[in-house]
Amino acid sequence: MKIAIIAAEIAPWAKVGGLADVIGALPAAFRAAGAEPVVIVPGYKAILDVVHATPVATGLSVTLEGAPEEFSILQASDARGTPMQLIVHDGYFGREGIYGTDSRDYPDNLRRFIFFSRAAAHAAAILKPEVVHAHDWHAAAVPIVMRADPVLAAQFKHTLRVFTIHNLAFQGIGTRDDFDLLGIAPSYFSIDSVEFHGLMNLLKGAVRIADGVTTVSPTYAHEVTSSPELGFGLEGVLREKNGRFVGILNGADYHEWDPAHDEWIASKYSPAHRDGKVACKRALLEAAKLPHRETTPLVGIVSRMTSQKGFDLLHDALDDVMRLEMQLIILAAGDPLMEKFFQRAESHYRGQLCVMLEFDNSLAHRVQAGSDAFLMPSRFEPCGLTQMYALRYGSAPVVRATGGLRDTVSEFNPASGTGNGFVFDRYTASEMVAALARMIKIYHDVSAWQRLMTNAFAADFSWERAATSYLQLFEKLRRDLAIS
Ligand code: ADP
Ligand code: GLC
Repeated sequence: MKIAIIAAEIAPWAKVGGLADVIGALPAAFRAAGAEPVVIVPGYKAILDVVHATPVATGLSVTLEGAPEEFSILQASDARGTPMQLIVHDGYFGREGIYGTDSRDYPDNLRRFIFFSRAAAHAAAILKPEVVHAHDWHAAAVPIVMRADPVLAAQFKHTLRVFTIHNLAFQGIGTRDDFDLLGIAPSYFSIDSVEFHGLMNLLKGAVRIADGVTTVSPTYAHEVTSSPELGFGLEGVLREKNGRFVGILNGADYHEWDPAHDEWIASKYSPAHRDGKVACKRALLEAAKLPHRETTPLVGIVSRMTSQKGFDLLHDALDDVMRLEMQLIILAAGDPLMEKFFQRAESHYRGQLCVMLEFDNSLAHRVQAGSDAFLMPSRFEPCGLTQMYALRYGSAPVVRATGGLRDTVSEFNPASGTGNGFVFDRYTASEMVAALARMIKIYHDVSAWQRLMTNAFAADFSWERAATSYLQLFEKLRRDLAIS
């Protein structure tokens, strides 16, 4: 089965969050399962600077609001050897950032990613895939133009259109004027496709038009169809897909995230040889300029700094959290006001709190390896990958029971020895503090903690399982919709 995967991020070169990790790992898993994937991503400067790419096609163009925009397609391999096509347009993708710089988005992102989607759809048409698998709002125009552009519709008559939602908080919303960027008939600005409350909504259009829609965990799939807060207005539209909207839990990329062969960390370790983790903790404390205290658990956070990730909760609860006997390292960048707050808090809680306001992959690995526990108090979480990485590093996740966090972490029960972390239900400071207090109590019971670590190490979220689920879904949809 030939699959064209279209997305705006790809690890390790163009990464803002978990979408990049998924696009960096899923294609290899598809190949291992016998499929034939090709990844299509923007030809960002960050990629073109480092990969060896050869031309596939030049002098192509799509017309945006009456003016032709030229692009070329280059062919390279992704980091795991899967064919990767790059949509090259210097004006849109020759910039330093992916979506912007210094936490400010580029003002023309709608235009950039509608252009990308249209160009990528043309690139996919040349490949003649059985399935086009587009991800998130940046590629949401792909299934839309595959149906609404008559030339593309003819080329894709036998192609299944699947759309995966990684985060419903970002929908690609614009005006009626922005709709013209799609270059499709005005009739598509309607309730049956991309119009939503008088605006253009690309994600909504993709949900309507795609043959199948997925999201990245079963619980999130349930939540977004049942809760207006989490559905961000699209709960009804998603419900209408019925069996053609499903949640498939992401995998964790253990090629990149495994303490047994992690090149970034102070000392490698494994479930059978855990000593290295002690050395990793020491090295991390030293880097964070925190004193080493034998019996104090070290809690890590690696995150975008946004309210999605629970930073407003942590803001409200920080004094109570700091009253607990624990140290906290926050590696996070994002919201400038939150950054300022946590930076100030660091000087207030010197020796107990370290705040690193950066996006740094090697530090992310070192925080995972050196922490005893990993805090993720998300308001909502479509899947969440960092808690899966934490488990692999033997760091106990302390999470709020939402989305993929609910699907991957379970409360440790010292009596039965089951569970791999600590889970709280309500988005309140007191529940979060109570979960951290439970963690600390277990930490002081050495044998219970070793048991908890064993359970954490044993969690296995392989991409093979996820890739197989996707392939089964693609086959089922092709059968049900009689696409052949
Ligand atoms: P999301 O995609 O919502 O940000 P995920 O848990 O799915 O959350 O994925 C986040 C990815 O981004 C992980 O690979 C994580 O290590 C990485 N990451 C997040 N924040 C940082 C940071 N400040 N520095 C380095 N890596 C980060
Ligand atoms: C989004 C979500 C995150 C998910 C990631 C990869 O960024 O916020 O929960 O893990 O996509 O699917």
